Amino acid sequence: MEKHKRIALTGFMGVGKSSVARHLSRILVCKRIDLDHYIERVTGRSIEEIFAADGEAAYRQIESDCLSSVLSGEDAAILSLGGGTWTIEMNREMLRERGVTTIWLESSFEHCWQNIRRSRKRRPLAQNKDAALRLFEERRSFYCLADWHFIIRPGLSSFDVARLIADEIFA
Ligand code: S3P
Repeated sequence: MEKHKRIALTGFMGVGKSSVARHLSRILVCKRIDLDHYIERVTGRSIEEIFAADGEAAYRQIESDCLSSVLSGEDAAILSLGGGTWTIEMNREMLRERGVTTIWLESSFEHCWQNIRRSRKRRPLAQNKDAALRLFEERRSFYCLADWHFIIRPGLSSFDVARLIADEIFA
């Protein structure tokens, strides 16, 4: 992949951003960073702990600070964002200023919800289905602002999605 070309995956919780990023980094042979993991590594706390102790506003500040350090200091070409990262204007500006191409991975709410329920990852903003559905609907208008939109059709695995995105990049 061209050295200067960087990609960030956005989309709702459970859509598969981290798995697609993992496959993409293997296919394109480049480094990736998962922003949620980065936050946990840098703060030494889990996202769940940060939300519980300090609240969402404090979490968003930490998330923006971490995004800023990843964008200025790390050489990873593939970045998987948290589901809320792209909904914050300052974060969108940072990503645009750095020339990062953002890809919105979209699938149905039911697909995301199944993955949320199956996953071991603790998600403070998806503790019940109604709250998660409200958030899913509210966030569409932000995800729409991404550079690319990739719809995950039923039956596509995260590897298939990564392969199709990689094909587009080299098209
Ligand atoms: C969040 C999504 C989570 C994590 C945090 C907040 C959100 O990441 O960043 O719990 O606001 O949608 P995933 O999208 O990887 O679950």
